Amino acid sequence: MSKQTFYLTTPIYYVNARPHIGHAYSTIAADVIARRHRLLGDDTFFLTGTDEHGQKVERSAAAAGVAPQQFADEVSASFRTLWDRMGITYNDYIRTTDERHKQGVQRLWKHLEERGAIYLSTYTGQYSIGEEMFVEGPPGTIGPDGKPTETVTEENYFFKLSEYQLPLIDRIESGELTIQPESSRNEVLSFLRGDLNAVIVRVYDESLFADAHLPSGTVVPAKLPVNPLDIAYDRGWVLKSASGKYYIPGALKDLSISRSSFKWGIPVPGDEKHVIYVWLDALANYMTAIGYGSDDPAMQERFARYWPADLHLVGKEITRFHCVYWPAFLLAAGIATPKSVVANGWLLFDDSKMSKSKGNVVRTETILDAFGTEVYKKQFPDSTKREQDLFGADVLRYFLLREIPFGQDGSFSFDAMITRYNADLANGYGNLVSRVLTMISSNFSGCMPVYPYEAPSEPKSLPLSILFEDKASSNNFFAFLRQAMEVIGVVDGKITSDAPWKLAKSDSPDDRVKLAASLYSACEAIRVITAYLYPIIPHATAKVWAQLGLGDIEAAAKNGELKNLEWGGLKPGTKLGELAPIFPRADKGLAQIMIDMENPTISTPSTTSTPSTTSPASVTPPAPSKLVDEKTTHTSAVPTDPTHPGAAPRTSALPEANPGATVGGSYAISTERPGTPSHTEAPASGPFAASAAGSSTPDTPQIAIDDFVKIDLRVAQIVVAERIPKADKLLRLEVDLGYEKRQILSGIAEWYTPEELIGRKIVVIANLAPRKMRGLESHGMLLAASHGENGKPVLATFGEEIALGSRLR
Ligand code: MSP
Repeated sequence: MSKQTFYLTTPIYYVNARPHIGHAYSTIAADVIARRHRLLGDDTFFLTGTDEHGQKVERSAAAAGVAPQQFADEVSASFRTLWDRMGITYNDYIRTTDERHKQGVQRLWKHLEERGAIYLSTYTGQYSIGEEMFVEGPPGTIGPDGKPTETVTEENYFFKLSEYQLPLIDRIESGELTIQPESSRNEVLSFLRGDLNAVIVRVYDESLFADAHLPSGTVVPAKLPVNPLDIAYDRGWVLKSASGKYYIPGALKDLSISRSSFKWGIPVPGDEKHVIYVWLDALANYMTAIGYGSDDPAMQERFARYWPADLHLVGKEITRFHCVYWPAFLLAAGIATPKSVVANGWLLFDDSKMSKSKGNVVRTETILDAFGTEVYKKQFPDSTKREQDLFGADVLRYFLLREIPFGQDGSFSFDAMITRYNADLANGYGNLVSRVLTMISSNFSGCMPVYPYEAPSEPKSLPLSILFEDKASSNNFFAFLRQAMEVIGVVDGKITSDAPWKLAKSDSPDDRVKLAASLYSACEAIRVITAYLYPIIPHATAKVWAQLGLGDIEAAAKNGELKNLEWGGLKPGTKLGELAPIFPRADKGLAQIMIDMENPTISTPSTTSTPSTTSPASVTPPAPSKLVDEKTTHTSAVPTDPTHPGAAPRTSALPEANPGATVGGSYAISTERPGTPSHTEAPASGPFAASAAGSSTPDTPQIAIDDFVKIDLRVAQIVVAERIPKADKLLRLEVDLGYEKRQILSGIAEWYTPEELIGRKIVVIANLAPRKMRGLESHGMLLAASHGENGKPVLATFGEEIALGSRLR
């Protein structure tokens, strides 16, 4: 009989940001599930990859001064390298710039076209570049990514999404497509059903409720005898799905699925001035990777074998794309829809989603390096880098899945990670293993005890497989691991009460049997626990398995030894493997080491491999407040060693021969003579900070360094500059801070033309409260010197290569 197949996917990651632990979180969860299905004997296929098209990537590449393909190659490789370092067991790595993918997407498009699902029309709307989607609202609306939208008018191809409202609702309500957690399912269903609350309000507004069901003039009681939606149904405002739930017909609108305002995408077949909407392109990866659209019979066979996907693992913010658009495309194309979508919550840092645009990311490499070298290598100086990496990866896997109930958001902190590691792995599981195996080693010559009577039975209090089974299979990692740790505590407690060290000292044959039984039982429990923990911490459990004398855990996973866990599986007499600590204790000081590793490093040409920040190998995006190392805030002038990570970059507006100037590389310098009346008050978000230039005069009150560090000065590049109609002095700028793009309005139109500004690197006050001018939001302020009598602003800029987002201090 052929094996049951299991096909699971991660989202494909955008290449405009380097990987951080938020990305690793999705991939880790997928790897755990894949490993578990493999050990259960399923023919498992695990796909991951990168999402490389779209305006966002095109712009990031342009800002970095490289071709989009080169840009994508580099970042895609950094994701893949990381997954390899972590021992992620993906079966294939799809890139949306792969030929196989492009061909598959174009074939899907043609197929949809042939089936009448696509039409051409024009559309003007607000487009969020960050989220690659149109959003409702007036010009300048703040998009879902927190940035102003752009008005885009395009002749677009549309997909007849509206036709799939009911089929999608039915599929989800019937469980044909399952969505977890419940909150994500509800969110998708309410999106599909439309705004039913508005309908209820209408029923009330039009007094239909009272008219239809209560004597006129009756006050509507708190508990309604009739559902207002029943009334709406009578009027035809709402309809019922197959399971009798209401929805508003027409609530789902057609979807624009092509773009002509940029080039970086897969051309629409037969109309190459359009590129295919990045989400249609991206979602199709799940099929193109396993052979959809391929001419190769082996790939076609693969597609037939694995499609439809059993599980798309996604972040909660992209469930709609996976549960509405994706199944709708497939229904329209007559292709089977995926069976389930499971959404993970967000890793937060300082209460907000860890993301490149917020700059509050923690890099996975930091954890691998820190735990690998500071904990593992210290214990095993001869260990290989590979072993150290895999150790660090296990620690991260365990921590993320144990700490955060899967599906919910959770905060990340280095301290919590170390505490959890020491408590659960070093002192809990690791200590139990070492305690038990050392006693076997010293009392039974390193062999599993042979006991003269029948095998000790599974303790009634610990029916291990039953305890673990349902939690492991429902992907409830959090509950499963909590339980595993409880069981470890119970086994540990049993050892303490058996006191085998006392039994070992006794000459009585009975005590010898008791000793054998106690240690055997503990080992059996360890074997079962280890088998269950294997998908979560595969590399550490491999070591425990080998120490138990059971050989290679990967081989055991393949041949079913990790799924049949009946009590008594350990053979007496089995020789233990070589014993060594599994989880050396981590020092508390490790947190600071990781914080230091994450601290923003201001790169200099000598340390920067790529000058761009959008491929920021050397520039850590600005750290969240917790991560900022206060020690590096200087009280003196610019540090002299430019390669020092804390060294502030020199601005060209910093005249070396101006000893009176405020230094620190931070303030614009006034060329006004001391005492010259200057613009003393900088207009908030105003044209230029230079008005503050007078601050270098002797009259200006001194400030403490604490005041200065509150100002977040960053290197940015102007990527868009344009005049604002009917505002002679203002320019609308879009600046790239490396970690995000912003709109800033600046009153420099009299002195600078938009053309001469584009591409310039400047200094921006990044943490200035946003403010509205001429109906447009300005997020920050440029720094400039105020020059001469008329206060001409001269923008602060740099004489040396400097990465975007670098902080001035
Ligand atoms: N390219 C799209 C997905 C296309 S799938 C056909 C995308 N890419 S992404 O790089 O922005 O995000 C990929 C995944 O990483 C998402 O599931 C997202 O939720 C996850 N994460 C990114 N930051 C995260 C956190 N801070 N925490 C948890 N997961 C996060 O969306």
